Amino acid sequence: MAAVVDSFSFLAKEIISVLTSFRDALALIGAIYAARKTLGLSYKVVSAIRFVLYTKFGRRDLVRYGHWAVVTGCTHGIGKAYAYELASGGLNIILVSRGLKKLQEVAKDIEESFGVQTCIVPVDFNEADDAYPGIQSKIQDKEVGILVNNVGVMYDYPQFFLDVQPERLWQLVNVNVAAATMMTHLVLPQMVARGRGVVVNMSSSACFLPTPQMTVYSATKAYLDCFSRALQVEYKDRGIIVQCLMPWYVATRMTQYSETLSDPSTLIPSAQVYARNAVATIGFSSRTTGYWPHSILSWFCSYIPESLWMWFSMRLNNALRQQAHRRIKMKKLKHSESLSSFSDEDLAQQSKQD
Ligand SMILES: NC(=O)c1ccc[n+]([C@@H]2O[C@H](COP(=O)([O-])OP(=O)(O)OC[C@H]3O[C@@H](n4cnc5c(N)ncnc54)[C@H](OP(=O)(O)O)[C@@H]3O)[C@@H](O)[C@H]2O)c1
Repeated sequence: MAAVVDSFSFLAKEIISVLTSFRDALALIGAIYAARKTLGLSYKVVSAIRFVLYTKFGRRDLVRYGHWAVVTGCTHGIGKAYAYELASGGLNIILVSRGLKKLQEVAKDIEESFGVQTCIVPVDFNEADDAYPGIQSKIQDKEVGILVNNVGVMYDYPQFFLDVQPERLWQLVNVNVAAATMMTHLVLPQMVARGRGVVVNMSSSACFLPTPQMTVYSATKAYLDCFSRALQVEYKDRGIIVQCLMPWYVATRMTQYSETLSDPSTLIPSAQVYARNAVATIGFSSRTTGYWPHSILSWFCSYIPESLWMWFSMRLNNALRQQAHRRIKMKKLKHSESLSSFSDEDLAQQSKQD
C-alpha cells in the first residue's frame, strides 16, 4: 500500500514539475508576445508623432529632385491642388489633363501666383493609346524630378457591378491603371539616368481590402498599391522614391454625389488641405494616406477582420448610394418647371435628412 502511495506522490510531483515548466514556458511566450506588441505600438506612436510634426513643420527641398514636376488630372480636385502646392515650392509644372481651356486657365494662374514656368499637355487618358508619344515629346527636354500620377475616375456613386456601364469600366482601367503605368514608363528613364526622382501614385484607402459597391475602383487602386511597392524595390538603389498615397475621403467633385462627403471637415479635408499634407510626406513615407487623421483611421482598420470591413463597406455604400439617388431625384425636381422655386437650402436640408 505504502509503495502505491509513494509511486502516486512521485507521479504527482513529476506532473507538477512538468506543469510548472510548461507554465514557465507559457509565461515566457506571453512576455515575449507582450513585449513585441508594446514595442510595435510604441514604434507606431513615435512614427505617428514624427509624421504629424514632419508634415506640419518639415518640408524637403523638392527642387533637388529636378526642376519640373508632372501632374496628371490637374484641372480639378486633388491634382490641381497638388500642382499649386508643388509650384509654391518653386517647381515648374507640366500639366497633363483634358480640356485645353481649363488647362490654360490653371497654367496662367500658377504662373502668376508663383512665378514658375508651366507647360500644358491636353490629353484624354481614356483615349490615350497614341497620345503617349506626344506627351513624351513635351517632357523629354525637361528635367522632371517629380511625377504625380493623380488622374483617376470613380463610379458616379457606389453601385453594384452590373449597374456600372461598360464605358465606365473601360474608363476605370484606362485612366486609373493604364495612365499611371504608361506615364511612369515615360518619365522613369530620365530619373534613373540622373539617379534621383520621385513617382507619386494616387491610390485610395479603398485598396486596403476589397470594397463592395466600389468593386472595380478598389481593384484598380489595389493595382497601384502593388505596382508602387514592387517598383520601389526595383528602383530604390537607383535613387528613385516611389510613393503610394492612400487617402480616405477628400471633398472634391468625386465625392459630390453625397452631401455628407462634400462638406470639408477634419476627417474629410478639402483638396488644398490634403495636398499640403501629402506633399509634405514626399521623401518621408513611401506608403501613406498622406494626411494624419486618415492615418489614424487606417491604423484602426488594420485591426479589423476582412468580414467586418466588407459588412461595414456594404452598409456605408448602401447609405451613400441611396443618398446619391435622392440627390439626383431632387436635382431633377429642382430643374423641372413646376418646382423651379426649389432652393439650394431645401436641397441641402433634404440631403441632411437622408
Ligand atoms: N476625392 C476622394 O475622396 C479620393 C479619395 C481617394 C483617392 N482619390 C483619388 O485622387 C485622385 C484625384 O481625385 P479627385 O477627387 O481630385 O477627382 P476630381 O475632382 O474628379 O478630379 C479629377 C481630375 O482628373 C481629370 N480627368 C478625369 N478623367 C480624365 C481623363 N480621361 N483624361 C484626362 N484627365 C482626366 C479631371 O479632368 P476633367 O475636369 O476634364 O474631368 C480632373 O482634373 C483620383 O485618382 C482618385 O481616385 C480621391
